[in-house]
Amino acid sequence: MGFTPDFLDEIRNRIPVSDVVGRRVKLAHKGREHSGLCPFHNEKTPSFTVNDDKGFYHCFGCGAHGDVIKFVIETEGLSFPETVERLAGQAGLAMPDFSPEDAQKAQQKKSLYEVMEVASKWFEAQLVSQAGAEGLDYLTRRGLEKATLKKFRLGFAPENRTALKDALLSREGITEDMMVEAGLLIRPESDGDQNEQSWQKPSYDRFRHRVMFPITDRQGRVVAFGGRALRADAKAKYLNSPETPLFHKGRLLYNLAGARKSSYDEGRVLVAEGYMDVIAMAQAGFTNAVAPLGTAVTEEQIAELWRLAPEPLMCFDGDKAGLRAAYRVAEKSLPLLKAGYSLRFVHLPAGEDPDSYISSHGQQAFRDLLEQARPLVDTLWELKTGTVQADTPEQQAGLEKTLSETLSEISDKTIRGYYDKAFQDRLTKLLGGAFVADHSLENQASKSSSHQVSHRVQNRARKKNHFDFTPNTYGKKTKSGWDTPLPGVKKLSDTGIFKGLQSTDIKRERLLILTVLNHPWLLKKHHEEFATFIFESEELDKLRNEIIDVSIRELDLEHKSLYSHLLKIGYGRALEVIFKQGEFKAEWFAWPNAAHEDVERGWLHVVNRYRRVSDLEKDLKAAEIELANNMTEEVYARFLALKTELENAKGNEASIDGYGTPLGKG
Ligand code: UTP
Ligand code: MN
Repeated sequence: MGFTPDFLDEIRNRIPVSDVVGRRVKLAHKGREHSGLCPFHNEKTPSFTVNDDKGFYHCFGCGAHGDVIKFVIETEGLSFPETVERLAGQAGLAMPDFSPEDAQKAQQKKSLYEVMEVASKWFEAQLVSQAGAEGLDYLTRRGLEKATLKKFRLGFAPENRTALKDALLSREGITEDMMVEAGLLIRPESDGDQNEQSWQKPSYDRFRHRVMFPITDRQGRVVAFGGRALRADAKAKYLNSPETPLFHKGRLLYNLAGARKSSYDEGRVLVAEGYMDVIAMAQAGFTNAVAPLGTAVTEEQIAELWRLAPEPLMCFDGDKAGLRAAYRVAEKSLPLLKAGYSLRFVHLPAGEDPDSYISSHGQQAFRDLLEQARPLVDTLWELKTGTVQADTPEQQAGLEKTLSETLSEISDKTIRGYYDKAFQDRLTKLLGGAFVADHSLENQASKSSSHQVSHRVQNRARKKNHFDFTPNTYGKKTKSGWDTPLPGVKKLSDTGIFKGLQSTDIKRERLLILTVLNHPWLLKKHHEEFATFIFESEELDKLRNEIIDVSIRELDLEHKSLYSHLLKIGYGRALEVIFKQGEFKAEWFAWPNAAHEDVERGWLHVVNRYRRVSDLEKDLKAAEIELANNMTEEVYARFLALKTELENAKGNEASIDGYGTPLGKG
């Protein structure tokens, strides 16, 4: 049942917990709280409290805890939907229309988890069977103990095209389609002719002759696999599951569920490059290690890491690639930095990764390395000045420019100020106490055309001004977003085109399309990104599909021809809304004359935000449905956590996006 979080909130808002509890338990006022004898355990003195402000009941005696919905479920024995229905009636709310499709989708997702779990068990069983001797031997030679194999649920995929397929198809409730959707089977592409037959080519196991590393989501459910080839000449050393309804690799971290508690307790989280590193670290007692999933660390992963500890330690390989990865994540973190949160970098000797370092130097040596981790500011300084000559005035000015560009990437003003100072100090030292231009680097970057600053820097500077956008200037911030539109921005709902125009997602959808319309060249590089969306607005999604179609047929698509084509086939009204003057005043990267580099960066940024929010929305919906079937404290806690996360993702928009226009409800 797809109750929206808003609907459930409305119920919680309208019905005081004490009302419902008061019918079963004699409550006495105690300040803002009510107290009484706990209905969930036997007691003589009251330890059961109800707080209407917080919307919760709590028992200090037995730990019972929940909200109004949970109370009814627990005391009346009703199911979740029945409870909601009853409370909605009590609150005078009409029941929302259920979308059977939503329910069906969530159901499908649920069964995909089950398929992954069955597959994981099967791989594990293979590893300890005759068929997996080779894999077990390999892992043992790499120093993994039995307990470690078990803990990380390592497994083995035999060298056989259909071993997993055959094994799982014999299980009740698992179909070939499900296995394809879960990324376990590969179904060969059709030849392009639409005839049914070509779809029927037999599917086969994606993972063959590999040691299998299950990848779990934040709750520890298996959502994907990484498979390591046993032969050195295999096409890919590691093969990972594709993106599936369960698996979004840019959002997850390997071993997140396993490392969460110890990271949190220790206040420290370690980030390695490889699965084997994480496992070797855990075996050596560093149980707080995670890794990205075969890609560079993403912005979302940085945010996730910060939920575990304020200064994640990057333990990347001591080779060129590892250093590059470190620099990349350093640069990527700049727009995200916030007070108290940063990154640190562990320096491993050339040719070593955490796995090899621990096995050759031992646990204590690795611990020592961790203690010497260097702060982000050092790493950045090294990156920006390490290979730069600064002997001539021109070179020195060049260096200053590089540094000011780096500064302008930092969106938090206070942090930017401190970095400015740190860079100034170091620059003075570097230039041997020689003359250093007396303007701060920061000022230089934001001065306009009177300075000889590149177009790029100017654009950056402009962008920076948008960070200065404060709520007081334009509108009032409310709990749900911004309630006063920017001056000159006509409310889109006034136009009456498109339903639900004020949704954040739909606004983003318009912005994504607008940018592509002004800069069709984006599609050359990011075709996949744009093609794999499913936009919430049906109209916009049709338009998106049309643009994809045209761009496939015409490689060097031009702004004008794209526009006139769309106009010709009847998208005039949609285009009118999208190009409405002033709506995206602040998103200058979408404008026709923006520098390509800025266009791309801005657009991808919105793409990521969009994906994140819509993924969270999907997860939340699934959690709600799970809640309906399985109302436990744990599921409920997860539901609440997701909800908060979604609210944060939506609420932080104005500041995180760094573009002046609040993308929230407005
Ligand atoms: P590494 O090659 O450093 O991994 O790649 P590793 O864990 O140290 O591997 P071995 O087993 O000790 O040799 C780091 C990570 O990059 C991804 C994997 O996630 C791997 O753990 N990767 C690497 C791939 O996705 N594909 C590849 O072909 C190689
Ligand atoms: Mn390795």
